[in-house]
Amino acid sequence: MKFFLDTANIEQITKANAYGILDGITTNPSLIAKEGADHAQRILEICQIVDGDVSAEVVETEAEAMLTEGRKLAKIHDNVVVKVPLTRDGIKATKMLSSERIRVNVTLCFTANQALLAAKAGAYYISPFVGRLDDISAEGMELIRDIVTIYDNYGYPTQVLTASARGPLHVRDAALCGAHVVTLPYPVFEKLFDHPLTDSGLAQFLADYRKSQEG
Ligand code: E4P
Repeated sequence: MKFFLDTANIEQITKANAYGILDGITTNPSLIAKEGADHAQRILEICQIVDGDVSAEVVETEAEAMLTEGRKLAKIHDNVVVKVPLTRDGIKATKMLSSERIRVNVTLCFTANQALLAAKAGAYYISPFVGRLDDISAEGMELIRDIVTIYDNYGYPTQVLTASARGPLHVRDAALCGAHVVTLPYPVFEKLFDHPLTDSGLAQFLADYRKSQEG
C-alpha cells in the first residue's frame, strides 16, 4: 500500500519523508492556500523533496481550460499527477489528459458510479473522500470496498486512493479493503507509529540490559 501525505506544508513533508517510507503527496487548492504559497512554486518545491507522485489540482472548471491548465501543471515536474474534480467537464478533461499520457487523479468522488466514470475516462487514481462521507453519516469505507470490487470485476487499472482519511482506523480499514493508496494528514501519519506497549516494552528491555551490565 502506498502512503501519501495530504499537505502542502514543507516542514511536515520533510519530516515524513525522512522515514524513507513516503510514496507521494496530495495537495488541493485549500491546502496550498493555507500555506500562503504560490501554487506552481509550491508544487515544484514538493517535487524536489519527495521522490513520488505529487497531485496538483486544476482550478479551471471548463474541460478545455482544465486541459490547458493540466498540461501546464504536468510540465512542472515528471512526478506531477494532475488532479481534476469529478464533474462532467472533469471527466472530459480526464479523458483528454490521459489520452496524452498525462496521469490524472480524479478527486471529489463520493459514489461508486462516479468512480466507474473516472476509470472509463482513463484516470490513474480515483480519490473517494471517506472522512467527508463519515461526516454526513454515510459509511466512507463502504465506498472504498465497492470501488475496489468494481475495478477488480472489470480489470480497470485505476488505483484507489483513499482520501479525506481522518484517523488510524481509516488506514487499517482501507488496507483491508485493498485500496492501493491512502493519503494522510501529517498528525495521522505520526499516530501510526505509536503504541503504549511498544514504549513500555522497550523501556523494560533497556532497563534489563543496563542491569545485566552492572553486575
Ligand atoms: C485529498 O486528495 C483530498 O484533497 C483530501 O484528502 C481532503 O481531505 P479533507 O476532507 O480532510 O479536507
